[in-house]
Amino acid sequence: MTEDIVVIPGDGIGQEVIPAAVSVLETLDVDLSFTEAEAGDHVAAAGGDPLPAETHELAANADATLFGAAGESAADVILPLRAAVDSFVNVRPARTYPGIEAVRPETDIVFLRENTEGVYAGHEDRLSEDVSTLTRVVTESASRRLAEYACEYVTDRDLDGFTVAHKANVMRETDGRFRDAVFDVAEANGVETDEVLMDALAMHLALRPEEYDVVVTPNLAGDVLSDLAAGLVGGLGLLPSANLGPDRGLFEPVHGTAPDIAGQGIANPSATVLSAAMMLEHLGYDSAGQRVRDAVETVLEEGPRTPDLGGEASTEDVTAALVDALE
Ligand code: NAI
Ligand code: MG
Repeated sequence: MTEDIVVIPGDGIGQEVIPAAVSVLETLDVDLSFTEAEAGDHVAAAGGDPLPAETHELAANADATLFGAAGESAADVILPLRAAVDSFVNVRPARTYPGIEAVRPETDIVFLRENTEGVYAGHEDRLSEDVSTLTRVVTESASRRLAEYACEYVTDRDLDGFTVAHKANVMRETDGRFRDAVFDVAEANGVETDEVLMDALAMHLALRPEEYDVVVTPNLAGDVLSDLAAGLVGGLGLLPSANLGPDRGLFEPVHGTAPDIAGQGIANPSATVLSAAMMLEHLGYDSAGQRVRDAVETVLEEGPRTPDLGGEASTEDVTAALVDALE
């Protein structure tokens, strides 16, 4: 069966790392057909919608979508794209690799981030010259759906359980509901849980990241804490992510368009290639996904490396080494 993959490079280094990931995918013995679609600042600058209806439609119907990054229009692109695949969880693994200089090499954490609501639900208002407000949305259904996924995630992998990060001591209604719903589902599934206040977790991550394996978080907390974890393991160039819905997924590096290095051909493609590995596994090609991970690991360890990891190689050099490692 051919898997119909939509690729959306977007802006900045998205234009560099997505072709790299496609080159890697093309060396595999998996029947993938690629359809490229447009989105991002460059589309808006040309007078279009940053997320053209056609791109939304393609993502909503593809077997999977691989996305690079969008610049200033990121929220206008990525939020509707996540909605197009009905994504309720953003899976963000953070670990380091042999040979990479990491602040906390013992870090090996997967964030399971709520992906539809919280403060990113889009309800902001300007009430007056002086006051702006934001409505934070937490629903029982989204919290439970995330928790069901978290239970499945740890059970499938024979893990002990998960940690719930929240701030229910202050946001008693919203995070209280989130916390209670997640605990309730975990208990019904016989999954062990513990909890931590999200601000305290930020400190624990900096000092003792080895104490955490799977962390279930509300939307904003997961966004911030996973970037913190990126800093612990060697940078944003290493962090992949998967936005999963009931039927399909949207796979993207955690990083953005990196305007400071865009156009120089030196972006690290690892995060995007690892996102492609998550995509393969989600489509059921576990051994192909593992081969891609192994290739990334080999190249990170032996080089060549891009400048963010202390090397001097280009995106193309790294991509060629990945393709070599796979052939
Ligand atoms: P960023 O992730 O683009 O860059 C942060 C830093 O990490 C920069 O120094 C950059 O050079 C470096 N970096 C990131 N990815 C890298 C890679 N693959 N290889 C080497 N170095 C890498 O975040 P920033 O600067 O906050 O945002 C830049 C733009 O990206 C903004 O317009 C923002 O809106 C957008 N953005 C889009 C996202 C998305 O589309 N999902 C996510 C985050 C930011
Ligand atoms: Mg982010």
